Amino acid sequence: KTVAVILVGGPTKGTRFRPLSFNLAKPLFPLAGQPMVHHPILACQKIPNLAKVFLIGFYEEREFTLYISALSNELKVPVMYLREEKPHGSAGGLYNFKDLLMEEEPHDIFVLNCDVCCSFPLTEMLDAHRKHGGIGTLLVKKVSRDVANEFGELVADPKTGELLHYAEKPETFVSDFINCGVYIFTTDIFSAIRDVTSTQKDRAALRRVSSVEALQFSSKATPTKFVRLDQDILTPLAGKKKLYTFETTDFWEQLKTPGMSLRCSSLYLNQYRQTSPELLAVGDGTKSPTIVGDVFIHRSAKVHPSAKLGPNVSISANARIGPGVRLIGCIVLDGVEVKENAVVIQSIVGWKSLIGRWARVQGAGNYNTKLGITILGEDVAVEDEVVVVNCIVLPHKTITSRVQDEIIL
Ligand code: GDD
Ligand code: GTP
Repeated sequence: KTVAVILVGGPTKGTRFRPLSFNLAKPLFPLAGQPMVHHPILACQKIPNLAKVFLIGFYEEREFTLYISALSNELKVPVMYLREEKPHGSAGGLYNFKDLLMEEEPHDIFVLNCDVCCSFPLTEMLDAHRKHGGIGTLLVKKVSRDVANEFGELVADPKTGELLHYAEKPETFVSDFINCGVYIFTTDIFSAIRDVTSTQKDRAALRRVSSVEALQFSSKATPTKFVRLDQDILTPLAGKKKLYTFETTDFWEQLKTPGMSLRCSSLYLNQYRQTSPELLAVGDGTKSPTIVGDVFIHRSAKVHPSAKLGPNVSISANARIGPGVRLIGCIVLDGVEVKENAVVIQSIVGWKSLIGRWARVQGAGNYNTKLGITILGEDVAVEDEVVVVNCIVLPHKTITSRVQDEIIL
């Protein structure tokens, strides 16, 4: 049997995702019309002999309960949210729920970061993992040299795939192969995490740095400390014939900023062409709007047939798109109204916002720069004929005249 764990983090993380994470946990932000975490869960559903999917994080329970119960009804795999009372780090969080995970008697445990967007080739990874027989397999990808240092860089044996060296976000270049944040481990990972923690404990005792810290360790059998999967576990285990790599050449992106959610939305929309074409809108401009490229429209949204949408447009529940509207490269969230002849290009339009007649909301489409797209927070109003270019607008603002390259607080 196998189980899958999706690390969702918590409200002290994902600050770069503001203002979109003010009212919604980042893992629930919609990409291609589905919550971010929906995409890895769907991929897990295809793993052979999967017993359960666990989401581990420190968001409040209620943020996930509604979503998870709806999802469990829809998919045939049980999904459960496990809440840490405080952040334990990516490995500490996993270890914290060791007993619950072991109850399922898994042979292998999939561990996925929730903030990556990829095709999640989990079954192929599992085959490779079973062949080499190590305690873990990492999904890796070759990226361009100048961005590699934003990730964990690694060196693997080109023949066997063995992980030889691992450095988390190194200052000097190590390799253009990076850690994609998708892993498979045997249950031996728990003893590896425990060993690391006891070494930490010994060192702390030796240095006599903190008597409080030492007490914490001696009074409890489980590590209460912060342990990270990457630098605390992968780095020391590299080069010991325990960890192996599996390379993907499919799409892969990390999702830390709102700009990247536009990029990842387009990647998932494009994936629907193969996996679920029925989710993509079709239209010809007569009874339904004109559709260009990949577009998702929630069934409760109302789009006027004279509107033109796409490519890369996702429209969430209860949005209303008026006559003559043009949308290109955008995420339009629940309850938004876009009035007639307005244009929205390379932008994210926050929940219940209102865009007036002939208004123009636009971004340059540079997903990696702060003001590279326009983001309207929740309940923003852009008045008729007003132009907004490359701006971040915080929730509940009304824009009455032209703004450009600004953060509107
Ligand atoms: N439950 C829980 N508890 N989850 C956590 C915690 C924690 O204390 N800390 C982080 N996470 C989750 C985050 O939500 C995210 O999904 C994942 O763990 C990794 O987050 P970070 O540890 O902050 O690392 P990162 O995202 O900067 O980089 C990691 O992922 C990259 C791939 O996206 C590293 O592993 C890199 O090497 C890797 O390239
Ligand atoms: P396509 O015809 O869609 O291929 O685009 P284009 O090359 O004509 O122009 P562009 O990409 O700049 O604009 C995209 C669409 O938005 C075009 O169909 C324009 O007619 C339309 N558009 C541009 N500005 C406005 C505007 O201020 N109001 C309205 N209603 N539509 C506009």
